[in-house]
Amino acid sequence: MTIRFDNRVAIVTGAGNGLGRAHALLLASRGARVVVNDPGGAVDGRPIGNGGGGHAAADKVVDEIKAAGGQAVANYDSVAEAKSAANIVRTAVDAFGTVDIVVNNAGVLRDKTFHNMTTEDFDFVVKVHFLGTAYVTHAAWPILRAKAYGRVVVTSSNSGIYGTFGQANYGGAKLAVVGFMNALRLEGQKYNILINALAPVAATRMTESLMTPEILERLRPEYVSPMVAWLCSEQCQRTGEIWSAGAGSFARIEYREAEGVRIAGRAPTPEDVAANIDRIADVSASRVFRTSGEEVAAVVGA
Ligand code: NAI
Repeated sequence: MTIRFDNRVAIVTGAGNGLGRAHALLLASRGARVVVNDPGGAVDGRPIGNGGGGHAAADKVVDEIKAAGGQAVANYDSVAEAKSAANIVRTAVDAFGTVDIVVNNAGVLRDKTFHNMTTEDFDFVVKVHFLGTAYVTHAAWPILRAKAYGRVVVTSSNSGIYGTFGQANYGGAKLAVVGFMNALRLEGQKYNILINALAPVAATRMTESLMTPEILERLRPEYVSPMVAWLCSEQCQRTGEIWSAGAGSFARIEYREAEGVRIAGRAPTPEDVAANIDRIADVSASRVFRTSGEEVAAVVGA
């Protein structure tokens, strides 16, 4: 089986650097026509130098794709405002007539311990990661729904799933996109719109200061992109799941819920919780739910 994207149009946000660039190059090399979105800027989303990074990041990736015989167009809009995010989708429609694939990858960092974090740093990170994902996907959604085909990727992070010191803003936003995905899985399935979350690990400007050169060499962004390409393919029929990818390692991540304890026949008290907390917390016999309804049914004991 060969994974190809002939006649497919893909949007990759934040594709001027790091992981987004690698995703865009791989999709284009397999026949996709790609919108390379990136407004430029530093890793914290602030302008680089005088006037700020600008068009160079996206342009360079478009040039690389074209030099390799692929098709791509640049877009410099920010995902973080509804209007500019919609313009990214408009670029796909204007240049290539439609959109089939949305890879929400754009990201920024504003790390600080919570007590030093300004609300502005909080808002900004949530805007780019969470609202940016929602805005771009929202603009593409009617097109995907009308054509009854779509593949959407949201980019989560082990920071949101497991926790990283100094990333309350980022970690919150990165798990928000999983909640977003969980709803769209249910809404999109009937229209063959499948949506999955990526939890990548890669050496990019976002992470290079955190790791040794030896580790960074093993973490090339292009070692993550095959998972994205699979999730964006017609062959992929999975939806609403979280996928870890990095250094050639690929694994699905899943929540589980303990069997727990039921206090029946009377109103439970805080002392009941205290007396049973170890059993309540024990996930050695655990259950996996696919919808909130399934979980509520189990809680209710239906
Ligand atoms: P990067 O900094 O190399 O790339 C992020 C790109 O997003 C940059 O080109 C930047 O200009 C662009 N961007 C920033 N704000 C934007 C906006 N408002 N609109 C459109 N584009 C914007 O970082 P990297 O590592 O490639 O990150 C890609 C994604 O992967 C991010 O969502 C990041 O949070 C996520 N991630 C990365 C991990 C890693 O190990 N590198 C780990 C977990 C998640």
